[in-house]
Amino acid sequence: MYIYNDVDQQIVNERVEQFRDQTARFLRGELSDDEFLALRLMNGLYVQRQAPMLRVAIPYGTFTSEQLRALAAISRKFDRGYGHFTTRTNIQFNWPKLEEVPDILADLARVQLHAIQTSGNCIRNTTTSHFAGVSALEVSDPRPWCELIRQWSSLHPEFAYLPRKFKIAITSGPEDRAATQVHDVGLDLIQSEQGELGFKVLVGGGLGRTPKIGKVIREFLPANELISYLEAILRVYNLHGRRDNKYKARIKILVEAMGEDAFRDLVEQEWQHLKGTELQIPEAEIARVTAFFGKHPYAQDAAADLSLDSYLESDEAFRHWYRHNTHPHKVPGYRAVTLSLKPQLGAPGDISELQMDIVANLADRYSFGEIRSTHEQNLVLADVQQANLYSLWRSLVEANLARANIGKLTDMIVCPGFDFCSLANAKTLNIAQQINDAFDDVDYLYDIGDIRLNMSGCINACAHHHVGHIGILGVDKKGEDWYQITIGGSSREDAQLGKVLGRAVAADEVADTLKRLLEVYVDIRREDERFIDCVRRVGVEPFKEGAYATA
Ligand code: HEM
Ligand code: SF4
Repeated sequence: MYIYNDVDQQIVNERVEQFRDQTARFLRGELSDDEFLALRLMNGLYVQRQAPMLRVAIPYGTFTSEQLRALAAISRKFDRGYGHFTTRTNIQFNWPKLEEVPDILADLARVQLHAIQTSGNCIRNTTTSHFAGVSALEVSDPRPWCELIRQWSSLHPEFAYLPRKFKIAITSGPEDRAATQVHDVGLDLIQSEQGELGFKVLVGGGLGRTPKIGKVIREFLPANELISYLEAILRVYNLHGRRDNKYKARIKILVEAMGEDAFRDLVEQEWQHLKGTELQIPEAEIARVTAFFGKHPYAQDAAADLSLDSYLESDEAFRHWYRHNTHPHKVPGYRAVTLSLKPQLGAPGDISELQMDIVANLADRYSFGEIRSTHEQNLVLADVQQANLYSLWRSLVEANLARANIGKLTDMIVCPGFDFCSLANAKTLNIAQQINDAFDDVDYLYDIGDIRLNMSGCINACAHHHVGHIGILGVDKKGEDWYQITIGGSSREDAQLGKVLGRAVAADEVADTLKRLLEVYVDIRREDERFIDCVRRVGVEPFKEGAYATA
């Protein structure tokens, strides 16, 4: 876990005081709405349907128990006792009072958190896999590289007013949990045949109204040139990206309009001036930043404890949870544990202040005081000894954080929709509840297996509906909420955009339509064939016929 030095702390503290002054001037009427807009967006503050919405950065989704306790205290003191985790691993507060936001930022700064660059047309929080550093499959831990990007991109004067927001994600190894192919820049941390560390670089991925899968513009970039190459990409984008139409301003549109070869050529030309300069990351700096990560004092004999086997044998509920909510760890005798923020009742990704405190305590007790937030809007305790899994599970059950549904249909990624977001066309949270109610039989849920369901309340696609195995998009038809369904999408290593199933369905028909859709799957699947593979094999048509059969 990276720890601020004095300079980092000073920058963040000064930013709080600047924003305090800006807010006071706005409240006194000395700054217009427009003038204040640019300033508040630089500090993660949106004005939404109900109240301002504050987005707090959780760099690459790793944070400490102390930071989580501070977030709990903030939600108690300044909000309504809960927070909402997003697909980009940040946390949002939906009810702060504008005049209190500077105090919230001050409380965040005390625990090395901030809201800088969580909104606005700048480089946002770099994200990565929630199993970074503990997965045996990755080539190397991406988080030091995320941190290096953070240090380079934070308050970078040249890239403070890009044509549009800019999102970077890094993955490593065969499994992509960071949706890198649908980011403005996606990076895959790899090793050359000679054993040199480097990145495969993708650009121009993204969702929203023009969904695109990223294109590879460099098969191998030496790792120490990461910053110089990103700087080259950002310069080309900053210069050539459209500023006349915000719907055509993302880098994906530029790459598409120019063609990926022409875009690559411009980046390579720009890079010729930048590589090998002071932007090359010195070995000592890579070593300094890397030293902050993954240095936990793991017990060498953790695998020796065999009590887990007897619990697995005797307790069925624990067995389900172990199977679905825990994940292999590179150190023998440890597991990474996912805490489900997808309860039977409640908005996906929400967490109460009480739960935040409980998770912080459990992290201290069982996982070196560290927590991860996931792209799928859950939390992870990444370093739990197998001997502690049973007691951890019991505590999580009590805190309503142990629903054994990770990767299953009810582990939905859902944006706040019309209840909170002023851009929404339709509600999402009521539909999420409808799906939860309709699919409450766990045997059936396990039988239909791994299915990613993503639901957005409008075309901005905050919940990545295009890349859900099942995607649901809320649309407004003459003042009524309707839902368009896509199938066959994926944000993983096999990334693909889903295909529209057919006409949109009314709000009260969504769960029933999904049921019919899944009946088709159960009828035609081959042995052990996942839903997504089945869709890929047979195409949309059989599912369409089944889904609309009696509707
Ligand atoms: C409620 C306040 C929110 C507002 C006003 C908002 C607004 C937007 C807008 C306008 C875009 C499209 C920008 C573009 O394509 O240039 C966008 C994209 C996005 N938002 Fe939100 N959002 C909100 C909440 C959320 C939440 C809660 C999440 C996570 C669940 C989220 C995650 C994302 C992501 C991942 C994208 C990128 C989609 C893509 O790849 O194009 N946002 N948001
Ligand atoms: S997808 Fe639309 S409705 Fe949902 S949070 Fe984003 S902007 Fe709001």
